[in-house]
Order: sequence, then C-alpha cells, then structure tokens
Amino acid sequence: MFSDRKVNILLIEDEDYDVRRIKNTLKPFQDYLILKKIVSTGEAALEALREERGKFDVVIMDFQIVGSLSGESLIKKIKEIDDIIQILVVTKMTVNIIDFEFANRLIEAGAMWYCTKYPGDIEEYIYQPTDFILSLFNAAERRYLAKEELKSRTKLDQNIQKNLEQKKILGNSEAIRRLRQDIDKAAESDATILITGASGTGKELVANHIHYQSRRRFENLVPINCGSIPQELIESELFGFEKGSFTGAQNKKPGLFELADHGTLFLDEIGELPLSAQVKLLRFLEDGEIEKIGRTKRVHVDVRIVAATNKNISDEIKSKKFREDLFYRLNVFPIWVPPLTERKEDILEIANYYLGKYARNSQRPEPEINEKALIILQEYDWPGNVRELQNVVQRLVLTEKSYIDEQSVREVLMSPHKSEDDSGLSYSGLLEKKQILTLREVENKFRAKYFRFVRENSSSDAEAARKLGLAPPNYYRMCKELGLK
Ligand SMILES: Nc1ncnc2c1ncn2[C@@H]1O[C@H](COP(=O)(O)OP(=O)(O)OP(=O)(O)O)[C@@H](O)[C@H]1O
Ligand SMILES: [Mg+2]
Repeated sequence: MFSDRKVNILLIEDEDYDVRRIKNTLKPFQDYLILKKIVSTGEAALEALREERGKFDVVIMDFQIVGSLSGESLIKKIKEIDDIIQILVVTKMTVNIIDFEFANRLIEAGAMWYCTKYPGDIEEYIYQPTDFILSLFNAAERRYLAKEELKSRTKLDQNIQKNLEQKKILGNSEAIRRLRQDIDKAAESDATILITGASGTGKELVANHIHYQSRRRFENLVPINCGSIPQELIESELFGFEKGSFTGAQNKKPGLFELADHGTLFLDEIGELPLSAQVKLLRFLEDGEIEKIGRTKRVHVDVRIVAATNKNISDEIKSKKFREDLFYRLNVFPIWVPPLTERKEDILEIANYYLGKYARNSQRPEPEINEKALIILQEYDWPGNVRELQNVVQRLVLTEKSYIDEQSVREVLMSPHKSEDDSGLSYSGLLEKKQILTLREVENKFRAKYFRFVRENSSSDAEAARKLGLAPPNYYRMCKELGLK
C-alpha cells in the first residue's frame, strides 16, 4: 500500500538504549520507514530541519531529553519551521498514560500523537510495536494530505492573484489610493461593509477585491442583485426553505446565506430589498442566525456581508422604503466610490488600459490616439462613469481605425448608442455587405440598442426593468441573451 511512498523520519533521542529499541521496531519495515537522521538534542533537531527543509515527514521525539530545548517548546519550534511535519512523542512510563491533560497539552503544542516507552515488559522494542508502526504510517499519510492541501491552496491563491491582477482597480488619483487603502482595511476585518457610489463607478469591483483579499478568499463569494429577483421570492432565495414549508416546496432548498457559509454574501442594489427581507437581514446582522422558511429553529451561519447601492439611502429611509436600524447595522464600514469626474487624472490610464484590452480581444493592433482626442476624453463628464468610459473605448476600437483623432471621439460621444450593432439597422449598409439578416437577428440588434438606451437612462437595473415593463428575472435573462451583462 505504501510502496511508492517512503516515510523519512527524524529521531530525537539521547539514550542509545532507546535508539536501539526504535531501530528494532522499525526494522521489519525498513523499506518504507527510513530513519534518516538521529540527533540527541532539540537544537540539533531544529538545525537539521532548517538545513534539510521539507526532507522529513515525521519526527519521533523523546519528551525529556538533555539540553535546554525539549518538550512542548521543542514541538512548537519544530512546527514553526515546518507546520505540516507530523510529530510522535515518546515519553517515559513515569508519565501516566491516562494523563489526558498531558496528552492535550502535547496536541495543542502541535504533536500528532504520543506513547509511553514501556507500557508492558518489552525490552527490545518501543511501546506497542504494531501500534507504533501504524501511527507512523498514519502520520505520514496526514503529512501527505497536508502537503497536497497546501499545494492546491497555493495554486488557488495564485489563481486568485491572477484574477485580481486581471481585474485591477486602475487609477492613481488621491481618491483611488484612498479607496485601495479602504479595501485593504476592509479585507483585514470581518466587519459588514456598505459600498456606495454612482452607477458604473466600480462598486462590484470593490466588493470582489474585498472578498478575494480577505481570509475568506478560499470560500464562496455569493453575489445577489436584490433588484433582480421578484420581491415575493427573495426571502426563499436568501434564506432557503424546508421541504413542504409551502405549496410547491417539494424539496428543501438551501438559501444563499448557506451557500456563502464561511464566505461572503454580496448584496448588490441593497436599496431594492423588500421590507420583510430587511427585517430578516437585520436579525442576522444582530445574532448571526437565519430563519429558514418552514423551520422554527434558527440556523447559525458564518457569513460576511458586503452590500452596495447607488441610491441615496437617506432618501430611502425618509420615504420609509429602507429601515434606519438596518442602515446603521450595514454601515459599520462605509466605502464610497467616487465618480470619475472627481478623479479626472485617472481617465487616461483607464482609457489606455481598455484600448489595449479591447484591441487584443478583437485581435486588432492597438489604435493610436492623438493628444486632442485624449483631452476630449479627459474633459468629458462621464455620467455613466467607468462603465461608460469602457463602452466608449470599446466603440472606438470597433470603428477599426488605426488612428483615433478628436473627430472620432466626438462622433462616438455624440451618438452614444451608435455602435457596431447599429450597422444591422441600416438597410443600405446591409446590402453593401451583401448580408441580409434574419428577422430574429435584426430584432435582437434593436433590442440590444434599446435596452442599452434605457439602462443608460436609469439609476439601476431594477429601474430599467420597471421602465421596460419587464419582471426583473426576465430582464436579467434578456440582458444576458443580448450579451449586455
Ligand atoms: N478603477 C477601475 N479600474 C478598472 N476598471 C474599473 C474601475 N472601476 C470600474 N471598472 C470597470 O467598470 C465596470 C463597471 O464597474 P462595476 O460593475 O463594478 O460598477 P458598479 O458601481 O457596480 O455599477 P452599478 O451601480 O451600475 O452596478 C466594470 O467592468 C469594472 O470592471
Ligand atoms: Mg454594480
């Protein structure tokens, strides 16, 4: 079973007699259990572990050895050097084998297991030889699993770093630097965060950075747009329900809170949360427990809340659409994302970044852009903030010009809805390209154009859905189908 894995052992033992007994015990398994090194003091053991880092799988250590370093303090020092190495402690018979407090202290210090040298009248072997051998194999297995976990965590961490790098928060203005500091502080803490800021300023991006920089980064980040779900369904979505709790509840369903356990729940457009769900959220923020529909006992979950809104919550409180007490509970750590006009010096960096990115995505050389064009971009007001800037840059790339001058920028800015999709709506254009589209395709082009228009003239997706006369889930589905989200 273990033939492909050799267990490298470091033995810390200062009595020749005991070294011999351990060697005897290991002998029948010497092909797998390799006594790589024997030292007689704690200092020598630490030196060996430092010099041959990662070479040992298991340490067998006598609890009382000569020298100043032994016992629990030695265990702790070993773990500081190699926190996944496994330690078996061997003690004299004088330590009572049912001294659980002693055992507990060893385990708390970082040992995996301990045994006494003479539980019976065995002279040639140590402890109960078979138990001892089994424990060594178990220790090696544990070390192997810990190593694998460390490897996959390291890989996951690298992926997370790569992801954050790809979704970098660009800009070097004072406001953005302050925002980055806020994000770092928020990521260190476990406090509830409320992100505010106008549409398109980067609130979702900030929420992502907070989660993936926090200690919860290996767990789920569960986003929910409170405006995208019909009011009557939002509670079951968030808190889940038990089988049979209402007609149609044929199976139990975990809520998003449960999916986010140990991770982060991102409540986007929190201003759209219905009042009844606000009460439940408030209770969770007070005691960390949720109320599943159809279950009387409340359930504890370990979830960090990050909420965002582009609404003015004070107005919502005044008009009784948002509970004031909930607002205070959410606003423990407020983060405000400033609009682009308040950080004009970031505009060119962001524009250049996306110019390169969109050109690469559409496999075109990055167009050159002249000074005057840049000035227009910098002086424009950007009511749609970074998202609008992204769209404009994308449309500039789609013009397929290799040189972008002030005229091209003006054209794109002045006809914000005139994009590549529009070519499908000019019939002569279609004829020139000898490309007649199906009715479906033309309809989609029109829809995309109109959706974009309505969205740009709404303060939130929920409002856009209302204006279009669509139920939020349908609105979101259609946006997705049209490639708008
Ligand atoms: N500082 C920035 N650097 C780079 N990209 C950014 C920055 N801020 C925002 N973006 C990009 O702009 C787009 C809009 O950002 P995001 O969706 O986070 O905005 P939002 O504030 O959540 O908007 P809304 O209120 O409409 O939901 C995203 O593609 C995001 O990656
Ligand atoms: Mg958003």
